[in-house]
Amino acid sequence: MKKIFVTSQYPGESVKRLSEKYDVEVFPKTTLPTREELLENARGSIALITTVSDLVDKEVIDLCPDLKIVSNSGVGYENVDIPYATKKGIFVTNTPNVLTETTADLAWALMFSVARRILEADAYVREGKFTCWHPSLLLGMDVHQKTLGIYGMGRIGAAVARRAKGFGMRVIYQNRGRNQIAENETGAEFVDFETLLEESDFIVITAPLTQETRGRFGSGEFQKMKSTSIIVNVGRGPIIKESELAASLKEGAIWGAGLDVFENEPQVNEELVELKNTVLLPHIGSASIETRERMIDMAVQSVELALSGDAPEYLVNPEVLDSKNN
Ligand code: DGY
Repeated sequence: MKKIFVTSQYPGESVKRLSEKYDVEVFPKTTLPTREELLENARGSIALITTVSDLVDKEVIDLCPDLKIVSNSGVGYENVDIPYATKKGIFVTNTPNVLTETTADLAWALMFSVARRILEADAYVREGKFTCWHPSLLLGMDVHQKTLGIYGMGRIGAAVARRAKGFGMRVIYQNRGRNQIAENETGAEFVDFETLLEESDFIVITAPLTQETRGRFGSGEFQKMKSTSIIVNVGRGPIIKESELAASLKEGAIWGAGLDVFENEPQVNEELVELKNTVLLPHIGSASIETRERMIDMAVQSVELALSGDAPEYLVNPEVLDSKNN
């Protein structure tokens, strides 16, 4: 029977659908496979269901001569060697849309957690320090009526912007190009990068990692931001230079930071860990039960289509179709 390797366990029943027709191997541990485990288990597969943490490079692809699809469960796919997969006629798919709203929710959770010092306040209560109410206790920053700056106005950026309406916020954004649909829907204004830095009370990064976005936020940028401002990153870690962020937070160039993604995941910069004005999460942007079920269902559907000879809907390398049609 033809083998499909799934690198992680998922909630829901979707993966079981594949077992009716194929030999499905789901990596049994609760951790992701190590490099050796990935190579060992992927060998000979006709389909791989992977996450952004599984490096699917030439070596992995070459171990699977009959590989038809790498179905990446996640919107990002920088873990897959797309040019090589395309050259080999292998479909690469992702799972956009289904995680947009969940990730936008988390961006807001980070904004509030940092602005209203939620983690510090929770610890204060748990540590038995709440002995009386005091007017200067744990003062934070308002969110409502402020200016929200979005760096990367794609689907997730637009979903973050939509939520701002309810808080009476002005929304400005910076993106590779204007997103007219998002502007019409959310009232967001396109501004240049300098304006985004100078006028935002909150900057939320939802951009993907590209040559242009890598290292885009460092000391120089933090200096230009308001000293009362908060930066949130639910995009990709390397967009922020973490040691420069830590230094800027220490010297008060900005007020706080909420990060769901890191420069060298899963390592987290020690200086950021020691700071009180940071909230640090283990890349859980899309981690709701409902969304995980939708993501794996979509990833499974892509595999079903690819293995039955059809083109999957969410192809990230559509050029592969040209080579198949020629
Ligand atoms: C994504 O979907 O890209 C998330 O960051 C999880 O991988």
